[in-house]
Amino acid sequence: MKVLSVVGARPQFVKLAPVSAALTRAGHRHVIVHTGQHYDADLSDVFFTGLGIPAPDVHLGVGSGTHGVQTGNVLAALDPVLAAERPDWVLVYGDTNSTVAGALSAVKQHLRVAHLEAGLRSFNRRMPEEHNRVLTDHAADLLLAPTEEAMRHLAAEGLAARSALSGDVMVDACLRMRDGVLAGTHPAPQLPDGISPVEPHLLATLHRAENTDDPARLAALADALADLPLPVALLAHPRLLARAEEHGVKLARGAVHVGRPLPYAGLVAAVLGACGVVTDSGGLQKEAFLLGRPCTTLRTETEWPETLAGEWNVLVPDPAGLGPSRWADTVTRPVPAVDRGAPFGDGRAAQRVAELLEQRL
Ligand code: UD1
Repeated sequence: MKVLSVVGARPQFVKLAPVSAALTRAGHRHVIVHTGQHYDADLSDVFFTGLGIPAPDVHLGVGSGTHGVQTGNVLAALDPVLAAERPDWVLVYGDTNSTVAGALSAVKQHLRVAHLEAGLRSFNRRMPEEHNRVLTDHAADLLLAPTEEAMRHLAAEGLAARSALSGDVMVDACLRMRDGVLAGTHPAPQLPDGISPVEPHLLATLHRAENTDDPARLAALADALADLPLPVALLAHPRLLARAEEHGVKLARGAVHVGRPLPYAGLVAAVLGACGVVTDSGGLQKEAFLLGRPCTTLRTETEWPETLAGEWNVLVPDPAGLGPSRWADTVTRPVPAVDRGAPFGDGRAAQRVAELLEQRL
């Protein structure tokens, strides 16, 4: 069996690592196409080296652009690659512009498409990720759902026959990295200047369009982080830095210390070293949950509602609306006593993905 993976953005490289290993272990051919949506070394190269992923076979180099331009550029560049490779499966990951473009290019060439992380819904139609995941699910031939909740969403949209519960491959990657970090096989993470790894501190990220593109909203969130009672290590995505500069919002003030994004081992170590996480990232909400750190999510909804059980994750769309003391208490709440179970699977999802692709051929 020949599988062609289309990846382009940071979280997809993390998911690619266990999938690539499982496909290779099972003796399948695996072609990796990097769209170039993320091109900074901090968001791309360090994941391939740090996670032991083979270098991409093809790099499309599309770079940034408006959603239409970026999606269109991936689509145009991918057409000849898929035509030449004719894989048995085109595998697309998650909810990015690279994902929807990969799915479209494949279906139009009558190639089978499998969508990894299918069935997630925020039900917020203003999010580019929601457009991408809904369109991809309805285009794909095989929907690999990470959770029971995702299976229910797919069934509700009439897609049950094409769906299969694989579990979440990010669990495979995260738990494996956690074991490596705890065994001391990775160097200590490069935390922002001013953050002491042995003093209590929080870890934060912020990058979503709905939080960064509107100047007033970005300023309000920067204020809220600055006012927290513990030092905040803010790992800044290039989008955040670009929008903060454009809108004249100063990030490094009060509690906040700004640093660069971390490679995966560093991120896992940084979560383990923090008292809590504040984020708008889908992946980091789940990583905090898996690694047993309370998470506060700066959004009105989450695609991972399982993380909300027992307040392992709390949604705070408007920190100012909570008032300063409730905001501080929420973010610095202790580790919940409630058992969080294993709603995202057992860490063997990638092997199941390889098996499902073979069975459904
Ligand atoms: C994308 C995904 C998002 C995912 C995130 C992970 C879409 C619609 N969004 O968002 O779902 O959570 O990746 O990080 O696909 N930029 C750089 N260097 C880079 C990449 C981006 O400077 O290597 C800048 C771009 O110039 C642009 C901004 O960051 O201004 C946005 O990049 P883009 O890839 O469009 O979306 P992300 O915000 O990263």
